[in-house]
Amino acid sequence: MSDTARKILVTSALPYVNGHPHMGHMVEYIQTDIWVRFQKLIGNDCIYVCASDAHGTPIMLKARELGITPEELTETNTKEFVSAFEDFGVDFDNYHTTHSPENEALVTEMYEALRASGDIYTRTIEQAFDEKEGLFLPDRFVKGTCPRCKTEDQYGDACENCGATYTPADLIDPVSVLSGTTPVKRESEHYFFRLSEYGDKLRQWMRDATLDKNVVAKLEEWFEAGLQDWDISRDAPYFGFRIPGTDDKYFYVWLDAPVGYPASFKHLCDRRDDLDFDEYWRPGSDTELYHFIGKDIMYFHTLFWPAVLQGAGFRQPTSVFAHGFLTVNGQKMSKSRGTFIKARTYLDNLDPSYLRYYYAAKLGPTIEDIDLNLDDFIARVNSDLVGKLVNIASRCAGFINKRFDGQLAASLPDTALFEEFAAAADTIAGHFENREYSKAMRIIMGLADEANRYIDDNKPWVMIKDEAQLDAVQAVCTQGLNLFRSLMIYLTPVIPAVADKARDFLGEEEWRWSSVSEPLLGSRINKFQPLLTRIEQQQVDTMIEQSKETHPETVAAAAAGDDSISIDDFMKVDLRIARINAANPVEGADKLLQLELDVGDGTRNVFAGIKAAYDPASLVGRHVIVVANLAPRKMRFGVSEGMVLAAGPGGADIFLLSPDDGAEPGMRVK
Ligand code: MSP
Ligand code: ZN
Repeated sequence: MSDTARKILVTSALPYVNGHPHMGHMVEYIQTDIWVRFQKLIGNDCIYVCASDAHGTPIMLKARELGITPEELTETNTKEFVSAFEDFGVDFDNYHTTHSPENEALVTEMYEALRASGDIYTRTIEQAFDEKEGLFLPDRFVKGTCPRCKTEDQYGDACENCGATYTPADLIDPVSVLSGTTPVKRESEHYFFRLSEYGDKLRQWMRDATLDKNVVAKLEEWFEAGLQDWDISRDAPYFGFRIPGTDDKYFYVWLDAPVGYPASFKHLCDRRDDLDFDEYWRPGSDTELYHFIGKDIMYFHTLFWPAVLQGAGFRQPTSVFAHGFLTVNGQKMSKSRGTFIKARTYLDNLDPSYLRYYYAAKLGPTIEDIDLNLDDFIARVNSDLVGKLVNIASRCAGFINKRFDGQLAASLPDTALFEEFAAAADTIAGHFENREYSKAMRIIMGLADEANRYIDDNKPWVMIKDEAQLDAVQAVCTQGLNLFRSLMIYLTPVIPAVADKARDFLGEEEWRWSSVSEPLLGSRINKFQPLLTRIEQQQVDTMIEQSKETHPETVAAAAAGDDSISIDDFMKVDLRIARINAANPVEGADKLLQLELDVGDGTRNVFAGIKAAYDPASLVGRHVIVVANLAPRKMRFGVSEGMVLAAGPGGADIFLLSPDDGAEPGMRVK
């Protein structure tokens, strides 16, 4: 390792805050956090920034549906991401938002620079327009029949059945997913970035950046297909930054999203005197810049972004590190199987260190997908972390604590073995540096086996019975604890919370990577507390059960989060018997029925997502249970004044809860 500290700026992709953080997201943030913690541990100057990606049509529409502003929506969701990051130990130096003054200033600066150099031009294009909603429709907001294989209900950009790609105009019988009406074609002037001019420069960047061969292969494919100019504008209404010099054009969210990287860094520079923005973002500096991303957003990070940076007079990334997608039990995450697991649901049931270790044990530097196999997860964590690693300490600590008043021996009985552990430092460091975490974990667990073998061979529990061998017991346990300590230092980037506890137990202030070469001798350790307990099958089962999606419109718990509630909280829920007076389909909504309910003291209008399960006519006259004191909720089709209780995963498998005969509208359910 070189003597001078490298200056490194690292980013993870900015999470799109229209939804909740889930286990797939955590692959990326944990992968990056491990790398950053490793860099800091070996003494490099490493800074890790991120932000919420807050703009664009999906966020605008989601906010509209909830009757709140996009700012409110993104702030609420950001809190959820931030708390998940904190609880998983993802330690950003700064977390900002793309809806910030720093970002607006930088996007504007880049845009002006690109325009000045002739990289921006305008062209009129034809686009699907929803006349009812008064909105140009992004491709994914138009659905229809695939022009190639004739499969119905496909998005406007690609067919899920045959894989054809096209534009919404090519769909047969297109409809707007917003209003259910047929979109019309409308012209509008758009702003384009001349990506087509950047082929040679991007090839040069590709050669300079040390990219994974999978990423290079993808880039070659794209060069081969030819680079198209990039549409960077969207028409009002749009949640984003207005393009200077226009009144109804906005920057496309994917233009200002990556600018969120330097903008978040700028926001940090404004608080830290030791950081200089230009040193990290202008050409010709020797700082390093790395973006960690998922394989789905490579085009944006390896073509658009380096080209925009170069054209606008900024430095380009040293490299872009792409990872694969998470599958759970070998399949895509699924709400009905309960494998679409939110970060919070995991945290409610399991220790974050388990997942950090498991991901590390699975992660390599390629875009290969990684699988969270839940049986393997339990087995691996219990065997490696609890059975091998923590066990070393618990086998030795008791003797030192009880028989030697916490005092370690003054020398090691087997320095060669200690040196062997220390000698692995460079290999393990190399693996961390190259994002070969699974290789690093294999070496560390191999050493853990050796440490356990050492204790097995020396049998302190036998020696302790012989007064003459007391010194030997102290020496052997000191050796064992030192081997444990070396392994915990190596694992600090992966399971920092456990490493902190281990360091406290050993009575040390600070660890560096190089601490593995100096044994801990003659000092006093603290009382041993179990560092991690075994995973019980039940914890995982509960997590899966809690992740099974029940229909959002019909289940009160969905919005309330997963925390348990007191009986007082429960008593606040006013459950009543209601009679369905009328039930009708809702135009433009394929899942909803509009219900008129008699709740004893008058009628209510309630929307329920039960259309796939019930014929409206069969519902009239039927008694159901409603949450009567739910705050009215503004939906796209009107206001919903309560919620009908039903059970089941959703779709056609949803069952209204019905009271027995004798129940009358208005009766309180208890
Ligand atoms: N907002 C964009 C990124 C803008 S970066 C300038 C975005 N957001 S995202 O929330 O959809 O995803 C954030 C990151 O999480 C992406 O790198 C994405 O690849 C990653 N993942 C999201 N779902 C994932 C899995 N199921 N598995 C692994 N990573 C996944 O993309
Ligand atoms: Zn098709």
